[in-house]
Amino acid sequence: MPATKQVLPTYQDLEEIIISEHMIKRRVKKLGEEISAAYPEEEITVVAIVNGALLFAADLLREIRRPIRLDCIRVSSYRNDTRSLGRPEIVHSLTIDITNRHVLLIDDILDTGKTLSVVVNLIQKLNPASVRTCVLLDKKGRREVAFEADFVGFPIPDQFVVGYGLDFAERYRNLPSIGVLKPHLQNPPEWA
Ligand code: IMP
Ligand code: MG
Repeated sequence: MPATKQVLPTYQDLEEIIISEHMIKRRVKKLGEEISAAYPEEEITVVAIVNGALLFAADLLREIRRPIRLDCIRVSSYRNDTRSLGRPEIVHSLTIDITNRHVLLIDDILDTGKTLSVVVNLIQKLNPASVRTCVLLDKKGRREVAFEADFVGFPIPDQFVVGYGLDFAERYRNLPSIGVLKPHLQNPPEWA
């Protein structure tokens, strides 16, 4: 029989794990309760910003005890590395009508605030009944645009993190926990 090659998860690229799978599960359940309570009567139109919010939204939606419509929006990555450069642009917009709807926008992380403010501006132009935002992580110390989310999973310090949907150059999204990427891996030129 040929020897099977052991394919390790990419945890070895992490300096440390800051949020475990168990912590994520517990917090996502709680967020679902908070969101359900904030919308006592209404159907919610969820807009997830992909790819980052993919895993978080998939788990969170199952904890929201309200009727839901789902759409996704894609925003161009405006960074080639772990620093933010330029301005994000919408590369794939909404496909459902949100006029007079209660919109809940979901993203993985609130960092400089540029991405969410661009998306909220777009949504507001479409005359929704309300817009609220939910992020799993919030790097409060990094804000360049004044923006606060209505629902936050975990505030975190200014460190570049990956896992549970968060990537570096599209890698590491499948890690079940969230951790800090080793500094020497944060800017390899071949990944930029
Ligand atoms: P903002 O526009 O600077 O607020 O950044 C939001 C986007 O930047 C998120 O949707 C992420 O895709 C990305 N981002 C910011 N910080 C991190 C991080 O620490 N790890 C991975 N992606 C990040
Ligand atoms: Mg991203």
